[in-house]
Formats: sequence, C-alpha cells, structure tokens
Amino acid sequence: MKPYRPPRIAPSEITSERDYFDRRRVLGALGLAAIGLAGAARHASAATPPAAAPRVTRNPRYAAKESPNSWDDITSYNNFYEFGLDKGDPKENAQDFRTRPWSVEVTGECEAPGKYTLEDILKPHALEERVYRFRCVEAWSMVVPWMGFPLADLLARFKPTSRAKYVEFTTLLDPRQMPGQRRAVLEWPYVEGLRMDEAMHPLSFMVVGLYGRWLPNQNGAPLRLVVPWKYGFKGIKSIVRIRYTERQPRSSWNIAAPDEYGFYANVNPAVDHPRWSQAKERRLGGSLFGARIDTLPFNGYAEDVASLYRNMDLRRYF
Ligand code: MTE
Repeated sequence: MKPYRPPRIAPSEITSERDYFDRRRVLGALGLAAIGLAGAARHASAATPPAAAPRVTRNPRYAAKESPNSWDDITSYNNFYEFGLDKGDPKENAQDFRTRPWSVEVTGECEAPGKYTLEDILKPHALEERVYRFRCVEAWSMVVPWMGFPLADLLARFKPTSRAKYVEFTTLLDPRQMPGQRRAVLEWPYVEGLRMDEAMHPLSFMVVGLYGRWLPNQNGAPLRLVVPWKYGFKGIKSIVRIRYTERQPRSSWNIAAPDEYGFYANVNPAVDHPRWSQAKERRLGGSLFGARIDTLPFNGYAEDVASLYRNMDLRRYF
C-alpha cells in the first residue's frame, strides 16, 4: 500500500524549509500522524486525506519586515499545557490528537447561535497568509507566517446583539486526549476573551495553518486565535466554543495568577511582569538567532491599535 504523500511546498516559496517536510512531519501537520503511525492506511477510507491547504496569498498589508522563523522553530517550541509543560511536550504528546470531526458551539448574545462544523466555519472564508510578530509573556518571540482569516468576518456571521460587549473562547476539554488536563496546573478548559472592538479589529486573526500547511496539533489545530499586539497567551488554541457576552469573560492565566497576568495583556515594554522585565525579548532562531531585542509597545502594532485604549490606564489594565 502506497502511503499518501502530500505535495511538497513550492521551493520558490520557502526554500529553506523544504527539508523539514518529510512524510511524518507533513502527516502531522495535516492531523494524519495518528493514521500513518497506527497503520490505519490499510483501510481505504482512513487513507483518504483531507485536502492539502489551498494556496494562500500573503497579505502585504500584514507582512512583518523580519524573516519568519523556520517551520521547525514554530512547531517544536510550544506552549500548550494540555499536552505538557515543557516546550517540546506539545509536539511529542499531541500527535494523536483527533481534530476531525470538529465543531464549534456559538452561543450567548447573538442572533445565530448553534453548533457549527469546522467545515461550516471555514467555508465562506478566503484564506490569507499574514506574517506576524509573536511575543510570549515569557519574553521570547518569533515571527510566524500564519494562515487564516479575519476574526471579525467570523464573528459578524453570527450577528452579535447590541449587548455583546465581549467575546469568550474555550478550548476543548478532553483529559483522555489531553494528558495535561489530568493535572490541575490551570483551571480547565482553557478560556480566553477579547473586548468586542478588539475582536473586530482587522489584525485579530483566526488561524488554521502556517507555512501554507494546515496547523500542526501542537500549534492549536484545527482553529486558534492570534492577536499580534497581545502576549501569546491570548492566542487560545483548539477552540470549541465562542460566546458573546455582556460582561468581561474570565481568562485562564488571569484566574491562575491575577497579579501577574491581566485580561488585556497588551505587549508593553513599560510594564514589567512582577518577576521579570518586559523591556526586551529573546528572538528565537531566525536571522537574529537568540538575540535580545527591544520589545515594542503593542508588539510593534501601536499605530494600528493604540487608539483602542486611548482613555485607559495601561498599568491598571495590564
Ligand atoms: N491555548 C491553550 N488552550 N493552552 C495553552 O497552554 N498557551 C498559550 C497560547 N494558547 C496555551 C494556549 C501561550 S502561553 C502561548 S505563548 C501560545 O499559545 C503559544 O503558541 P505556539 O505554541 O503556537 O507558539
């Protein structure tokens, strides 16, 4: 039986990454690692792969000047506590995570609540690539070519009511598949939220892939949030629920340590974490390999988003 071998990514696009796309990695990226490794490819139905990600065009409006980190950097150094606490754990422990079938429950202050399949969620949206800076609250950063579509377009589809002031996102709760959820490191499931105007901002991005491939499990397959002017922990992974709400939702890291992690979590070099400075960041890999560089207000997106916080004391609302 000949195993399915997805086409290689066009060398003209990301020559330096070509060597990383060996069969196992690509299967992993497509959520097929379990099938390949379990030998299930013997069964014709199980061997049918989901379509490779369509060609996406890079949106020049959102293309960070720095060169992106490699596929390997982005997919082997992760925070996804559902799969372990060390940076290498998610890649190791999430390979068998099942992301098909998948559905998202839409609820709360909206006119079109319901349970939508992943296919329903994705269907109307054209995918685009955006190269965003990514700054973790732990003071490391990367540059990532995400593939996805504007969060605003998704949220508008369910017709939020005038009472929808915030939106809350929830990650899957499944301790059988997510070994990290068997320990009380965080309150499970992981939850996050945005104020409605933040969520509707054109930079807020629903991500389904990177480097032109579907998202690897360790990066939050099949659907995760990326809000580039905020610390990485706002970028909740493997989303199963979207709830429009009148009140500010709770958020996992704020529940765990309210003095250390706020709801807003805007990248801010002027407000230190109680246990470390936020003035600089370590740029992992890439051309700056490990260099410590200045952290920029709103992670370099101040021109786009500072007006959202015009009348707010950003020390108080950190
Ligand atoms: N989402 C869930 N469900 N669980 C997590 O542990 N970690 C957050 C965020 N989203 C996390 C999560 C943190 S702290 C960061 S920095 C980013 O995911 C990391 O995303 P990456 O692994 O794709 O770089």
